[in-house]
Amino acid sequence: MQALVLQEDSAHKLALLDVPTPTPREGEALIAIHYASLNHRDQWCRVGMYPNIRFPSILGSDACGEVVAVGSSADSAWVGKVVILNPNVGWGKHLAYPDYNYTILGMPTAGTLAEYVCVPVDRLIDKPAHLTDEEAATIPLAGLTAYRAVFTKGETQAGANVLITGIGGGVAQFAMLFAKAQGARVFVTSGDDEKLTKIKALGADFTVNYKTQGWEKQLQKQVPLGFDVIIDSAGGEAFGTLAKMLTMGGNLVVYGTTAGTPSPLNLPRLFFSQASVKGSTMGNDVEFVEMVNFINTHQIKPIISSVRPFAQVISAFDEMHEGKQFGKLVIKIK
Ligand SMILES: NC(=O)c1ccc[n+]([C@@H]2O[C@H](COP(=O)([O-])OP(=O)(O)OC[C@H]3O[C@@H](n4cnc5c(N)ncnc54)[C@H](OP(=O)(O)O)[C@@H]3O)[C@@H](O)[C@H]2O)c1
Repeated sequence: MQALVLQEDSAHKLALLDVPTPTPREGEALIAIHYASLNHRDQWCRVGMYPNIRFPSILGSDACGEVVAVGSSADSAWVGKVVILNPNVGWGKHLAYPDYNYTILGMPTAGTLAEYVCVPVDRLIDKPAHLTDEEAATIPLAGLTAYRAVFTKGETQAGANVLITGIGGGVAQFAMLFAKAQGARVFVTSGDDEKLTKIKALGADFTVNYKTQGWEKQLQKQVPLGFDVIIDSAGGEAFGTLAKMLTMGGNLVVYGTTAGTPSPLNLPRLFFSQASVKGSTMGNDVEFVEMVNFINTHQIKPIISSVRPFAQVISAFDEMHEGKQFGKLVIKIK
């Protein structure tokens, strides 16, 4: 089969290679992948900015495809179903945090940027019926991360004022779709005015470019008492400002550091307002099922930037590196 392999010595660090098609072991399913989608994690792996990188590895954490075979002791009723995959590998028994040996599908275990992948059948869930295969392929990693950030950590309620930074991001966009479906008022930032225009058309209540001077004042004017929830994946210079923009008892949830080392926090401001800064990573297996149910209940449609053939997959990594995309980058595998 064809697979995108992370390689230490290839020109792009990535190569489309012919590799052996996997055989499902006990309790596993073999999935013929129709579509996969990219996450920033894949690009971080490519540039060596992800922990415990192993070469060679097949990247990719998201997919929609058809179950074509199962191994011994796995329920054969899965065969012929179109599914998406829970990318958690060994979250473990604690709902609040994963086990130390937790990993994510696609490095070190063989991932979804391939014609076939094998995963345990307990990683499978039916594709949401209201979505196309390419839309469904965008859900797993970004949807799970956004769901935990918005609900478990952010505690977003109907009517809450929610600020989401860097709305060009895949996780950020799922966070907005979830918060809007919950009945929150959603404020977003981006470094790109075109992305802000597009997201306004998709339901954002207020938008501001974080590269313009006084962006924080514009937001404070809208919500003078501060935000109930702030969801951030950037860190960087703006982080201390964000922490000052929380209302009494508010939650600032951070799941990434795209913009690097955070600026200092005003600690008295934080503790006098009983506010919290919470780290969040992926989500547990219960949240994965809840997230897919939420998408079904609210008939949520993911935002897609582009769909391209497998032969052009490396150009999707380049686009993600440049941050040009608006929505998920989808790869048509077969
Ligand atoms: N902890 C976890 O479980 C987890 C899970 C998924 C992702 N992440 C991390 O979260 C980050 C986003 O992931 P993704 O897959 O959603 O990436 P993505 O789709 O590539 O989006 C990255 C986005 O970051 C935004 N950004 C860049 N510089 C920014 C700044 N100075 N301030 C605010 N936003 C800025 C950009 O938004 P604009 O274009 O709108 O400016 C860009 O679209 C990555 O760092 C990733 O590693 C963590």
